[in-house]
Amino acid sequence: MPTSSPPQSRPGVVILGTGGTIAGSTAAALGHHYTAGVLSIEELLASAPGLADIAQLRCQQLFSLDSVELDLPRQLQLARRVAQIAADPDVDGVVITHGTDTMEESAYLLHLLVGTDKPVVLTGAMRPADAPGADGPANILDAVTVAASPAAHGLGTLVVFGGAVHSGREVSKRISSRLDAFDSFHGPLGDVSEQGLLLYGRPARRFGADSAFELASLPESLPSVELLLSHPDMPASICRAILDSGAAGIVHAGPGGGNVATPVARMLDEARERGVVVVRSSRVGAGVVARNGAVSDTEHGWVAAGDLNPFKARVLLALALTQTSDVATIQRLFDTH
Ligand code: SIN
Repeated sequence: MPTSSPPQSRPGVVILGTGGTIAGSTAAALGHHYTAGVLSIEELLASAPGLADIAQLRCQQLFSLDSVELDLPRQLQLARRVAQIAADPDVDGVVITHGTDTMEESAYLLHLLVGTDKPVVLTGAMRPADAPGADGPANILDAVTVAASPAAHGLGTLVVFGGAVHSGREVSKRISSRLDAFDSFHGPLGDVSEQGLLLYGRPARRFGADSAFELASLPESLPSVELLLSHPDMPASICRAILDSGAAGIVHAGPGGGNVATPVARMLDEARERGVVVVRSSRVGAGVVARNGAVSDTEHGWVAAGDLNPFKARVLLALALTQTSDVATIQRLFDTH
C-alpha cells in the first residue's frame, strides 16, 4: 500500500501593507502621473502567483500612503505593529510593502528597534502595479521567499529589492528612476535566486534586541532632528531658521567627507552652546565621515556620522536623544549601531 508523507507545513508569513508605488496605479491617477498607495495588500498579492506555495500568508493593512508621508511617529507605529505581529508564535516572518522613497529610514528604524529574531523584510516597487513590466510582483515573491527562510533569522530588518537582499542599516535609494534603485555601500548581504536565499554576509553593528534602544520604552514621538544640506553659498538666514526651529538635534550634510563652511560652522557652534546635538555627515551619499577627519569634531563638540548617510543619521540621532544629549555617549552609539 503506498504511503504518503505528512503534508509539510509552510512557514507563516504576515504581509503588512503601507502603500507606496508597489500599491500605486496609473489608471487611478485620472490625468496625473500615478497615485501611490491606492491598491489594497490583497489586490497586490493577487498579482504575484505562487506565493501560496512558499508560505501560509496572512495580510494586514496599516497605511495606504505615499512613503513621503511616513514621518517618525508613523514609522514608530509601524515598528510597534511589526513587533506585535512577530511575537505571534504562528508567524515565522513579516513582509512589509512600503514606498521606496523613505524605505531606507523605516528599514533602519525597524532594524534598530524590532527585537525579534524572525525575518522582517521590506519591499516595494519602482513601477506602479498596473504599469508595463511592473516590478512589484517579483519583489513580493522574493521578499516572501526571504521571510519564509530559516537562514534569514537573526539578520534584523532586511530590504529585498531587484533580487538583492540588503541590511536595513546599509541600504539606501541611490537611483531615483531605475528598477535597480537600491544599493548598500558595503554591498548586499545576499541574493534571491532559483535556489532561494543565498547569503554572503551578516550585519556587523548592534541591532534589534542587542541595540541600545527599547521600543516599549520609547515615547510616542521622538525628539525633533533637522537636516541641514549645505553648500558654499548657504545664507546665514537658512542656518538661523534651523537653529530657531527648536530642534534638539541637527544633522549637517556637508560636501565630501562632511566638510563645513565657516559661516555654517559658526552657526553649528552656536547650536552647541544652546545644547543642540550636531552630527556631521556627508551629502555624497556613500562613504565614511571619520571623527576628526575633515574637521575637528572634538574641538567643536560634534558627532561624526561614520558611514551612515544623513537620513539614517537623523533616525539614529532622534533615538539617541531619547536617552542622552551627551556628545561622547552619542558618538559611541554612532560607532556601534
Ligand atoms: C513612495 O515612496 O511611496 C512613492 C515612490 C515609490 O514607492 O517608489
